[in-house]
Amino acid sequence: MKHFCFLGSLVLFTQLSVAQHADTIPMPDPVRQGGKPLMQALNDRHSSRNFTEKELTLQQLSDMLWAANGINRPDGRRTSPSARNKQEIDLYITTARGVYLYDAVKNSLIGISTEDIRAKTGGQPFVKDAAVNILYVCDKSRAASTDETGALVNAAFTAGACAQNIYLYCTSEGLGSVVRGSFQSDELKGLLKLSDQQVIVMAQTVGYTQ
Ligand SMILES: Cc1cc2nc3c(=O)[nH]c(=O)nc-3n(C[C@H](O)[C@H](O)[C@H](O)COP(=O)(O)O)c2cc1C
Repeated sequence: MKHFCFLGSLVLFTQLSVAQHADTIPMPDPVRQGGKPLMQALNDRHSSRNFTEKELTLQQLSDMLWAANGINRPDGRRTSPSARNKQEIDLYITTARGVYLYDAVKNSLIGISTEDIRAKTGGQPFVKDAAVNILYVCDKSRAASTDETGALVNAAFTAGACAQNIYLYCTSEGLGSVVRGSFQSDELKGLLKLSDQQVIVMAQTVGYTQ
């Protein structure tokens, strides 16, 4: 995979949205303070299904992904818990500009493809319009449990924690979100270029609402 190295474009990327290529895109540091008070965000959290096509900025993506499952301690542990700290959940994001894998260590987006596959991440009509559809992927080779059911239960638990973090971030940021159990796993596995050890456990739509 090629690495993004054109420094001159860095400023552009931090100001605009995700670039349209499959390279690795560095993101600005997440803003780890402020936002809506926690109890107010919990009070306002809800699912939305009326998205517009307005894109998120790279800062918003960085903040959202850090809230979901970013590194929040020097030892590399995350904002969401995982069984025995195995960190087996990866977040893939699909946007109008392509598909990316969140690299929490480098706070970057690893380009997977330049194809807009948002419409293929679910059958509900709003899915194709929303800025981002997130796919939560369990890598069983990193799971705490070697038992298939145990691995998937643990992974679903971590994905649920990530998803709720995103709901709360969206509530604070004035964005909408809905977690989705409905997606076409077989087709998506190919589009995300997953291995046979990787399983999509959940989807989540994020974007501006009408
Ligand atoms: C495991 C799970 C799967 C879900 N799948 C879908 C889905 O496929 N499509 C959808 O529109 N909402 C889905 N939802 C969202 C629920 O419909 C929603 O959370 C519920 O109606 C309560 O509404 P609220 O989130 O606004 O409180 C799912 C929620 C969960 C927890």
